[in-house]
Amino acid sequence: MVNTMQKSGSGESITKDARIACNVSRVAGIRNVEMLITDEVPASIGHGSKRCTMLSGIAPDGAAVVIKAAISCDIGANEIENNISSYKLAEKLGVGCFFPRVVDYGKIPIVPKDTTGFGLDVLYPLDVVYLAMERAKTPFYRALGKVNSPDTVYDSLYTQLYSLYERTLQHDPRASLSFLEKRFDDLERYFGKHLPAAGLSGSEELGKVHLIRGLITPLRPKNVVLTTGGEIDVAHVFFSENGRLILIDPKPAKQMVGTPQTDLGIFATLAKTVYALKGGGYGYDKAKELARKAGRLQGIDERTSDLLFEVGEIRLLATSARFRVGVNDTQATLFSDMAKEKLNHVYYSLLERRS
Ligand SMILES: Nc1ncnc2c1ncn2[C@@H]1O[C@H](COP(=O)(O)OP(=O)(O)O)[C@@H](O)[C@H]1O
Ligand SMILES: [Mg+2]
Repeated sequence: MVNTMQKSGSGESITKDARIACNVSRVAGIRNVEMLITDEVPASIGHGSKRCTMLSGIAPDGAAVVIKAAISCDIGANEIENNISSYKLAEKLGVGCFFPRVVDYGKIPIVPKDTTGFGLDVLYPLDVVYLAMERAKTPFYRALGKVNSPDTVYDSLYTQLYSLYERTLQHDPRASLSFLEKRFDDLERYFGKHLPAAGLSGSEELGKVHLIRGLITPLRPKNVVLTTGGEIDVAHVFFSENGRLILIDPKPAKQMVGTPQTDLGIFATLAKTVYALKGGGYGYDKAKELARKAGRLQGIDERTSDLLFEVGEIRLLATSARFRVGVNDTQATLFSDMAKEKLNHVYYSLLERRS
């Protein structure tokens, strides 16, 4: 029985969610399909709207699963295809164990002018696109509260991430370049558009971003690893019952291979500064250490690893500032000031290094 009473975005989406759930439970062989109740990271602020219907259920083999589903014409369907492409890449590289086990995925046709009683009244054939996967047990931020020393949780995460990097190291200067380009496109968007629109930054900062881009690009490593896709959201890091790292909701496969230092800068800043999680200071220092260690694996020096880590920090602080405009203006200003300070630090470090 589908529970339609859970809190959802709007009245319309409750109905849509329930209808998608009915279609999934009819065809995918998954029992006890219900709306998934997700818990939010404390202090998080929604970055965008809900795009997929999230369900829980029981697979034919008895395993607890999460099903992510969307109607094929909705943007959520792309998100699901993206997740599937990355899980396939991870399998191919022999590191599927760092992601949720994929139980099933596919498309379920919705009959036009549905007469099945579920009434998705579409005028032309559409599908429900779905991905059924292992249900990961403990979100990272919950794990921090379950142990005496949160440091051990960061240690476990970083040890496992390093193993992911080690096992996926490959020579690919082009992937390294396109990965970095994307990071700087992001920075240019924030400092060229979003922050100036809120009066939080100006042309001087954008000029620095351009210069940093030009100076860092030639320093980039030629060796890449499977990363968390350029950013890592605390809400996407889980552990299994026996402590195995499970990374959910990855970026599309083509964005996953690159340099992990920016991802780690993002994660560390989220944990320490933005969400102020338990042990965030320790988590920050150790993330920086891991960035350097990964850098050694990739053949770059410590200073370059630090700079790439800081690029991640700047990106995260800029994003956090942007999404707090009009919601918490004091924090928006605080985070944009921190982003600008970091930007200056990277800028002057690079100028010093050049001279
Ligand atoms: N495999 C999973 N195991 C446990 N929880 C999950 C799983 N997949 C998703 N979730 C929960 O659902 C939330 C939304 O899923 P996500 O894949 O991040 O969707 P979105 O594309 O909307 O960001 C996650 O933050 C997490 O709490
Ligand atoms: Mg997500």
